[in-house]
Amino acid sequence: MSKASSRLEFLGQLAGGLAHEIKNPLSTIKLTLQLLDEDMQKEDSPTAQRARRKIEVLLREVKHLDDIVQEFLHFARGHDLKLARTDLYRLIVELFEFLGDEARRRNIRIHFDADGKLDDLVLDPTLIRQALMNLLKNAFDALDEKGGGEVVVRARVKGDLLGLEVLDTGCGIAESNMDRMFRPYFTTKKNGTGMGLAMVRRIVEEHGGQITFESEAGKGTRFIILLPADPEKRGSLKSMVAVDEAPGEQP
Ligand SMILES: Nc1ncnc2c1ncn2[C@@H]1O[C@H](COP(=O)(O)OP(=O)(O)OP(=O)(O)O)[C@@H](O)[C@H]1O
Ligand SMILES: [Mg+2]
Repeated sequence: MSKASSRLEFLGQLAGGLAHEIKNPLSTIKLTLQLLDEDMQKEDSPTAQRARRKIEVLLREVKHLDDIVQEFLHFARGHDLKLARTDLYRLIVELFEFLGDEARRRNIRIHFDADGKLDDLVLDPTLIRQALMNLLKNAFDALDEKGGGEVVVRARVKGDLLGLEVLDTGCGIAESNMDRMFRPYFTTKKNGTGMGLAMVRRIVEEHGGQITFESEAGKGTRFIILLPADPEKRGSLKSMVAVDEAPGEQP
């Protein structure tokens, strides 16, 4: 192992330990605030009401910190892939069912475009679901400022490749942000942790795949994931893309 990578690994462990140490006092703070809130519920004075509003703010901030630490720990540890034969078609249909109400509420039309044999793929279904969920959440957020729009998930198996795309007709990505999209903690959202895309990339790479995107500010964004359909062939994605037409490409 090179000096630089062992140093990086050491820093990773140190940061993981630090994050872990932060979690305990944080949960004590949360619990104490909740108890304080209960006490304040018994009082009806204006002072008590003001105190409760302040407690609410503190609890919100504690939750935000807790989310950050949680995401960090997930990210720092990485995943052990639990590969299983998966019906990806069904997984996506169920994801759509889960998000249906939310989409309607936000005036978003969602559409699933499937092609090829998707019902028997070897992957980690929980992680792939999480990756798609993160991309869909981002797509929904991107549509909010337009008051709604369209989101399409495309899944396609062609030859040795599985292509997954998430398209939206949302706000798009400013040219100046394009380089840092996958960077941990990069966010333009008030309540974002900026770990969504970093996590998606990690999951895709753990599956031996790669992720890219195309975007036009004001018009929309397309995330493109390419995975080897056969896990035996993972690790040789580059040569496969070179010989085969990528499933993400339009005819
Ligand atoms: N589909 C998209 N359209 C436009 N911008 C996007 C899209 N997806 C991601 N982004 C931009 O990339 C940033 C990083 O995304 P990422 O998912 O990593 O974090 P986040 O969404 O800000 O926070 P979190 O995922 O923790 O809620 C976003 O803040 C947003 O600016
Ligand atoms: Mg996100």
